[in-house]
Amino acid sequence: MLKILEFPDPRLRIKAEPVRVFDAALGELIDAMFATMYAAPGIGLAATQVDVHKRLLVLDVSEEKNRPLTLINPTILAREGAQVYQEGCLSVPGIFAEVERAERIVVEAQDRHGAPFRLEADGLLAVCIQHEMDHLVGRLFVDYLSPLKRELVRKKLEKQRRAAPAA
Ligand code: NI
Repeated sequence: MLKILEFPDPRLRIKAEPVRVFDAALGELIDAMFATMYAAPGIGLAATQVDVHKRLLVLDVSEEKNRPLTLINPTILAREGAQVYQEGCLSVPGIFAEVERAERIVVEAQDRHGAPFRLEADGLLAVCIQHEMDHLVGRLFVDYLSPLKRELVRKKLEKQRRAAPAA
């Protein structure tokens, strides 16, 4: 299992570099990211969150947790409409806030073998892709909140950590 960085860890602000080598080590990283995401449990995880600064994310928004999706070097080609979702993040545990994002997007990415593909997404999948792609440029969903709200989130997390038993 990989360790997930938590806000306000400065490593969450590092911009990810493109993936250029599609080798066995990359495959192992992807498998470990899926295992970490499903165990958390979460619906998406960006490499940035596990302190690997590469343009790579994994997600699965299905109820049955049987639709794993890997996006490497993703680019949004088109976006349309707007939707507001109550978002959460494995790097900001226990915090949920409404964020407005595009309703529909067209994404181009590479799979774990480097093969390019195009994906049209809407609803929760579109939200999740946009949220995870933000991680790759060092942006968190709490950045969309007012500075005052973000400060309250930081204090709440600090309190939660202090209350947690030492391990
Ligand atoms: Ni997140």
